[in-house]
Amino acid sequence: EKGGYPTFMEKEIHDQPHAVADTLLGRTDDAGRLVLDEVRISEEQLRAVERITIVACGTAAYAGMVAKYAIEHWTRIPVEVSLAHEFRYCDPIVDGTTLVVSISQSGETMDTLMAVKHAAELGAMTLSICNTHGSTIPRESDAVLYTHAGPEIAVASTKAFLAQITASYVLGLYLAQLRGETYADDAKSVMAELQGIPDKIDELLGRMDRVVEMASFMADTRSVLFLGRNVGYPVAMEGALKLKELAYIHAEGFAAGELKHGPIALIDAGQPVFIVVPSPEAPHELHKKVVSNIQEIRARGARTIVIAHDGDDDVEPFANEVIRIPNCSPMLAPLLAVVPLQVFALHLSTAKGLDVDQPRNLAKSVTVE
Ligand code: M6R
Repeated sequence: EKGGYPTFMEKEIHDQPHAVADTLLGRTDDAGRLVLDEVRISEEQLRAVERITIVACGTAAYAGMVAKYAIEHWTRIPVEVSLAHEFRYCDPIVDGTTLVVSISQSGETMDTLMAVKHAAELGAMTLSICNTHGSTIPRESDAVLYTHAGPEIAVASTKAFLAQITASYVLGLYLAQLRGETYADDAKSVMAELQGIPDKIDELLGRMDRVVEMASFMADTRSVLFLGRNVGYPVAMEGALKLKELAYIHAEGFAAGELKHGPIALIDAGQPVFIVVPSPEAPHELHKKVVSNIQEIRARGARTIVIAHDGDDDVEPFANEVIRIPNCSPMLAPLLAVVPLQVFALHLSTAKGLDVDQPRNLAKSVTVE
């Protein structure tokens, strides 16, 4: 059942091309327009949405952060991401024009369920992005958009994360199409590019030898930092969470721009830092800004492990290690950039002799508040 892999997590990492492809399956008609049959909120109601609040926990909340960038970019609808356990107790501003989108692999996370119930009580429309058919959260929601990642057994979420991000893109493009407000990219061309992502993940998985090797000699590492910007920021957070969960190593994810506002004080000789570099095509010179962050921390002795797109030579002078990912549009990059971080955490856990699939103190689905 592990498909020949030593752990469920490793199998699930290798399932990711399918998780993305299957989540995209059947979402467009012959003319290339998005059709979301499962979304049983009327088109009229969806056109009236004035704000979106995403509620989720853990990895699903990081998928929600990626979703915020994408949905706001494509629809101009304001999107807020709220940790589900905070949402209910912060007197949220939610009414009949709010779409509350929950993201949950299991569909049973109590914190997320309670947030959805609270949103419904306040009169919001609720939509669930969920991986488990017939689970509680979709049943309690007005609409559901299933991710088709297949069962995820390992406690650490991997393929569900990629499927959640994919479903969020589909939702954002669908809302943009529905409202006739494709403010940015053309929905059809984004969908076409998304269809090509599974092959790129596959290719990337074939390039992981050096990442595995790095993990094997970093078993004694006490702390690892992760930096990213824009959609790379949630990827950095997710890389840190994977390392905490799986290898019990202190890890922190930061927005790269925040570095000079404090965290740079943590940098001393030999401190390993992963940096998720935006595509050179990213707007607002973000690429240049992140490259200069790498330069700054390298000058202070950090060991810089850079995740950069193929052909991005600007990072070379400041990188101790460069992990290459295939080229894609800046918005879709999380689907690739997170993969080496998952592989790194998996192999560091293995190098420490830990239980990859069942980390200590954790349950696959957290059914208590
Ligand atoms: O089933 P859910 O997606 O609602 O679970 C949410 C979190 O508990 C989950 O993502 C958790 O953070 C994972 N262990 C992360 O690997």
